[in-house]
Amino acid sequence: MNTVRTVQGTSYLGVESMDFPIFHLDLIGNRMLVAVIATLHVWINHALAVGFLPLVALLEFYAFRTRAADPARAEALDRLARRLLGVGFVITTSVGALTGVGIWFAASLANPAALGSLICVFYGAWFTEWIVFVLEVVFIMAWYLLWEKSAASEQAKRRHIQAGGLLALVSWLTMAIIVAILGFQMDPGSWIQRRSFLSGFANPLYIPQLYFRTALAMAMGGAFALLLTPFFLRRDDPARPAAMRCVALWMLIWSPVALVGGVLYRSAIPEALTAAFPVAVSTLAFQQWYGTLLTVVFGAAAVAFLVAAWAFLQPRWLPRAAAVLPIVALFLLLGTFERVREFVRKPFVIGGYMYANGLRVEDYPLYQRDGLLRHAAYAAVRGVTPANRVLAGEEVFRLACSRCHTVGGLNSVVNKFRNLVSPGRPLDEAFIRNYIPEMHKAWYFMPPFPGNAAEQDALAAFILQAHRAPVRPRADQAAGLPPGASAGAHSPAPGGAQP
Ligand code: HEC
Repeated sequence: MNTVRTVQGTSYLGVESMDFPIFHLDLIGNRMLVAVIATLHVWINHALAVGFLPLVALLEFYAFRTRAADPARAEALDRLARRLLGVGFVITTSVGALTGVGIWFAASLANPAALGSLICVFYGAWFTEWIVFVLEVVFIMAWYLLWEKSAASEQAKRRHIQAGGLLALVSWLTMAIIVAILGFQMDPGSWIQRRSFLSGFANPLYIPQLYFRTALAMAMGGAFALLLTPFFLRRDDPARPAAMRCVALWMLIWSPVALVGGVLYRSAIPEALTAAFPVAVSTLAFQQWYGTLLTVVFGAAAVAFLVAAWAFLQPRWLPRAAAVLPIVALFLLLGTFERVREFVRKPFVIGGYMYANGLRVEDYPLYQRDGLLRHAAYAAVRGVTPANRVLAGEEVFRLACSRCHTVGGLNSVVNKFRNLVSPGRPLDEAFIRNYIPEMHKAWYFMPPFPGNAAEQDALAAFILQAHRAPVRPRADQAAGLPPGASAGAHSPAPGGAQP
C-alpha cells in the first residue's frame, strides 16, 4: 500500500486513497457516527481526566498538608478526594476508554485514507500514545485501589500523592499528543514542503490549541468537582467550606486562563486557514464561525467564573441547580469548539493535502483525466457505460460524496438537490449534471468534483433515480478487487469503460 509513484512529475510516499472499501451509513451518515463518539470522548477526557485528576490530587495533597492543624477536616477532605476519584475512575475507565478506542475504529471506517496518511506522518506518536494510555490506566488503578492502604504511613501517603500527580501528568500527555494531530489536520504548516515528523508535529495551531484545551479542561474539571462536592459533603459538614473554596479557587484561576486561550486560538486560526483559500466568501463564512465561537467562549467563561465566585464566597449556600450551570456551559463551549474546528478545516481532512472525501489534492488531475472508478480498488465497475450508468453513479456517489452526504438520510444529497429547484418544478438530470462541476464554488466546504465528465453524468443519473425511487445503499462496498488486480496499481493510460 505504501508505494512511491509518479503523478504528473511529482513523486511522493503515502497511502493510496482508494485502496479501501467504503463504509457508509445511509441513515445518520458517517460524520454523525464519528461526531457522537468523539464529542462524548472529548467531554469525558477533558472534564474527567485532564482537568479533574490534578484537582483531586491537589485536594489529597491539601488534606495531607493540613492534617496537623485540623485532623478531622483533613480526614474529611481526603475522603472527599477519594470519592471524587471514584466517580472519575468509573467513567474514564469505561465510557472514556471505550469511546477513545471507538474514535479510531469509527474514523478509520469513515475515512481510512485520511487515517492512513496521518499514521504515515505520526507513526511514532501513535505508538507513544498507546504507551501513555496504558500508563494512565495503570496509574489510575494504583491510585484508586491503593487509597485506603496509603493511610498506613506518612511515607506511603506521600508516594500515593505522587502517583496521583504522575497520573495527572500522563493524562495531559495523551491529550498533548493528539492535539498535534488535530492541529496538523487543520494546517500542516511547513510539513507540506518538508514532510518530516517534527514539521508536522510542530504545526502552527499546535501550541495555541494545546494551551486553550489545557486551560479549558482544567476549568471543566473544576466545574465537575463543583457539581459533585455538594453531594458528598452536606451543607453543615465542617469540611464543606474548605472543600468548596478549594474547588472554586481552581475554577476562578482557570476560567480566565481559558478565556485568554480561546481568544489566542481564535486569532491563530484565520491566517493559518484562510491563507489556503482563494475565495473571499470563505473568509466571510469563517468569520461567522469565529463570531459564534467567541460568544460562547466569553459566555461560558463568565458563567463558570461567576458561579465559582459564589461558591467561594458562600461555600455552604450554593444551590445545586447553580452548580450545574458551569459544567453545562463548558460542555457547550467544548462542543461548539469541536464543531468549529471540524468545519473550518473543510473542504480538507488534512489542510491543503487531502480533501474530506479522502482524495489527495495532487491526485485530482489524474482522477479527473482517467475517472475515479478506474482507480478505485473496491468499486463494482471500472468505468461508465450506457448500460451501467446508474450503478456507476452510485459508486461515484460513494467515492465523491458519501463522506458527507447520505442518499436518503441525514444531509441527504437527493434532498439537497430537490431544495435547489423552485417548488413545483421537477428535478431533472441536466440540472444536477450542471451543478456538479461547480459544487465547490457553491459552498467553500465542498471539495471540487474529483471525477471525469462521464462520471458526472452517471452521478446525475443515480441521484435522479434515487429521487424518483428512494434507495438505501449498502453499508459496505460489496465488490472487491478484480482477479489479478492489485490495490494501488495504476496504469498510466487514460481509462475508457472496462468490464
Ligand atoms: C466535505 C463534505 C462534503 C462533500 C464531500 C460533499 N458535500 Fe455537498 N454539502 C456539504 C455540506 C456540509 C452541505 C451543506 C449542508 C447544509 O445545508 O447545511 C452540502 C450541500 C450540498 C448541496 C446543496 C447546496 C446548496 O446550495 O444548498 C448539494 C446539491 C450538494 N452538497 C451536492 C454534493 C455532491 C453531488 C457531492 C459529491 C460529488 C457532495 N455534495 C460532496 C458537504 C459535502
